[in-house]
Amino acid sequence: MSLSAPLVLGIESSCDETGVGIVRGTELLVNAVASSMEEHVRFGGVIPEIASRAHLDAFVPTLSAALKEAGVSLEDIDAIAVTSGPGLSGALMVGVASAKALALATGKPLYAINHLVAHVGVGILEGGKLPENLGALLVSGGHTEILQVNSLTDDVRLIGSTIDDAAGEAYDKVARLLGLGYPGGPVIDAIAKDGDRKAIRFPRGLTMPKFIGTAEDPGRHRHDFSFSGLKTAVARCVEQYQKRGEEVPVADIAAGFQEAVVDVITSKAVRACTEHGLSNLLLGGGVAANSRLRELLAARCASAGITLRVPARELCTDNGAMVAALGAQLVATGNAPTGLAFSTDSGQPVSMVSLAA
Ligand code: KG4
Ligand code: ZN
Repeated sequence: MSLSAPLVLGIESSCDETGVGIVRGTELLVNAVASSMEEHVRFGGVIPEIASRAHLDAFVPTLSAALKEAGVSLEDIDAIAVTSGPGLSGALMVGVASAKALALATGKPLYAINHLVAHVGVGILEGGKLPENLGALLVSGGHTEILQVNSLTDDVRLIGSTIDDAAGEAYDKVARLLGLGYPGGPVIDAIAKDGDRKAIRFPRGLTMPKFIGTAEDPGRHRHDFSFSGLKTAVARCVEQYQKRGEEVPVADIAAGFQEAVVDVITSKAVRACTEHGLSNLLLGGGVAANSRLRELLAARCASAGITLRVPARELCTDNGAMVAALGAQLVATGNAPTGLAFSTDSGQPVSMVSLAA
């Protein structure tokens, strides 16, 4: 195998996307994704059991499509990488069992990979090497984290994370409250453009002095997020209008809600970077598509002297290419494969970039 540019197959199944990606070193060959999102629409959120079954149905067709599009066979592959966590247990199990079966049948080395670190590793597919002093802000339906990436393959630290709902989850729940359907992010993003973001001020979670403290004496939740109070505040606001028999100002509520989410995320991310000496920030996750988040984050990073990097949308959402990209880096830096004797870890910490053999 070529250690500098290994051909790696990446498999992702931690939530509702079945992803199979193939990379050669830092070059993306194919990024095939099947999503079960449509099947979750009527429930207003991802139903783990439905997602797991959908992965079972989608895996083989997605794999075949990826191999065909890249023009490679399983024989050509140097290594296989699979998301082992964090994520939904049942969903992870489908990808991991499939990856183990492929590794066993082909004799190829298998790497069990951290989903969150893979969101960062995908940056390598656009412009090669990641910069030094790198932070990452991951915002999706399943996670909201700020990471410090000292070394992609062996030193990633969690600076902050949500203590309740993920940012995308808050969008989905609020969209349901406003009768806007699922997924909530794109529709709130769109309707907020017709609203006044200053008309209603919603609470900014974990921004009070008792939570954030000071730079010298940080509070317990200085870099953490909380969105469940915000969701409740939106519910109360809607109720007030309904009680008074008034029309609910959906666009203003959507704009005010979005501003609260985006204000907290961007200010906390920039503060975390500044205080940890991180002059580069990579954005990832489905919420990275949000127009107001991009706008405010770009502005705040620019004023703080932080260089912002936002991968293409299809690489920000869950996909197999990011898993393959991180797998290729692990191979290139000489990390030992995990082998077949590992289990999924729905709470895999970011410090475990890949599971040890
Ligand atoms: O990364 P992703 O595809 O997978 C999950 O983590 O599930 O992210 C999906 C999430 C959903 O919660 C969706 O509402 C949110 O990303 N999302 C957005 C936007 N587009 C998708 N949130 C805010 N604004 C958007 N434009
Ligand atoms: Zn993700």
